[in-house]
Order: sequence, then structure tokens, then C-alpha cells
Amino acid sequence: MNLPLPDWLKRRPRILNVLHALKLIRPVSSTTKAELQCLERHARGKALAVEIGTAQGVSAVRIARALAPGGRLVCVDPYSEENPNAQICRRELARWGVLGRVTFLRGRSVEMAAQIPRGCDFMFVDGDHSYEGLQADWGIVLECLAVDGIACFHDTSVPVEEPHRQPGSVRFFNEVIRKHPGFEWLETVYTLNVLRRCRAA
Ligand SMILES: C[S@@+](CC[C@H](N)C(=O)[O-])C[C@H]1O[C@@H](n2cnc3c(N)ncnc32)[C@H](O)[C@@H]1O
Repeated sequence: MNLPLPDWLKRRPRILNVLHALKLIRPVSSTTKAELQCLERHARGKALAVEIGTAQGVSAVRIARALAPGGRLVCVDPYSEENPNAQICRRELARWGVLGRVTFLRGRSVEMAAQIPRGCDFMFVDGDHSYEGLQADWGIVLECLAVDGIACFHDTSVPVEEPHRQPGSVRFFNEVIRKHPGFEWLETVYTLNVLRRCRAA
């Protein structure tokens, strides 16, 4: 069952957690259907993925399901295990049969940086959308993404349908990431940009 949710309810994680436990709703996310399909396409067959910013696990489920057999997804998010968003996430991953593929690093990405695996072949950055937040996560991508690996950045393009949606991450992406010679831009889907690492430096 998937009841339609009013906006006020989407901001009430404790209530959402109860409804989700009762299988009355699905987890909520601002990531669109087209963006999720795009993530899934690029994660398909990958072996070692990282997601920065997991919330209720909507994108994590799609990525984890797409990985190669034996593939691993590391999810980085400050929500503690007791947080209702994190509880929804674990339950949803379990319902899809992919909880065993996921490792959680519970903290901000910069605090967890030393534990994020090197040599990843897929990274989805969807945590702190400020200019400085994406700047920090970009440093982690440079450190952890293997050559030929795919990097996806949410909220880095302004959709025509939502011209007001301009977090600092859009400016950092345009000023720095888009121009980096070690990355080849592949596509933009709504607010999501996808790049491939073409060389180490
Ligand atoms: C937009 S939500 C993620 C949505 C999720 N990727 C999806 O598509 O369903 C952003 C998440 O980033 C987390 N977050 C915020 N700052 C962060 C940081 N510095 N490092 C890691 N996660 C962060 C928040 O706790 C929140 O759960």
C-alpha cells in the first residue's frame, strides 16, 4: 500500500516510521523517478559504491539492487540508528533483500572520510548541499573514486520547473567539478549530474 502524503507529514519522521512499519507508505525522498532510474543505470554491475546522504534509503535501495553479485554499498549519514529516518532506511533495505550489501557509516562525511573505502567504482553525493558541503565531499570523491568510476551529484543543476532551487552545491559544481580535467561529464537528469573519472589527477 502507498498512501499519498501531504507535505506536512513528509516532515514528521516519527509518524512516517510507524506508517512504514505498518506497510502503509513508502519512504520519502526529493530524488525524482527519472533521477533514481539514472542512478540505477550507472550503478548497474558495479562492485563498490558509496552514497553520501542516505536519509530514508530511497536511492540506497536502487543503488544496492543494481550492484553486481557480491557488490557493496557504503552509506554515509549522520542519522543515528535510533533516528526514525534511519529505521525506515534499514527496514526498506531489508524488505528489498539488500540490507546485507550495505554498510553504514553514521556521521558527517568529513568525520567518516578515513573510513570511506578507496577504489570505489560508483559514488552518489547527496548530503550537505551548501557550497562548502559539496567542496568537502568533492575532496572525498577525489580521494576515493577509482579511474573509470562514476560520480553522481544531486542538486547541482537548476531544473526549469523549479528555478528557485539553487543551493550552494550548484555554484560549486559549475565553478569546480564541471571544469575538472580528470572528469568527463556524461549527463544531467533534472538536478542530477553524472561524470566519469578519466584519470587519477
Ligand atoms: C536529500 S537527503 C538524501 C536523500 C537520499 N539520497 C535519497 O535520494 O533518497 C540528504 C541526507 O544527507 C544527510 N547529510 C547532511 N549532511 C551530511 C554530511 N555532511 N555527510 C553525510 N550526510 C549528510 C542528511 O542527514 C540527509 O539524510
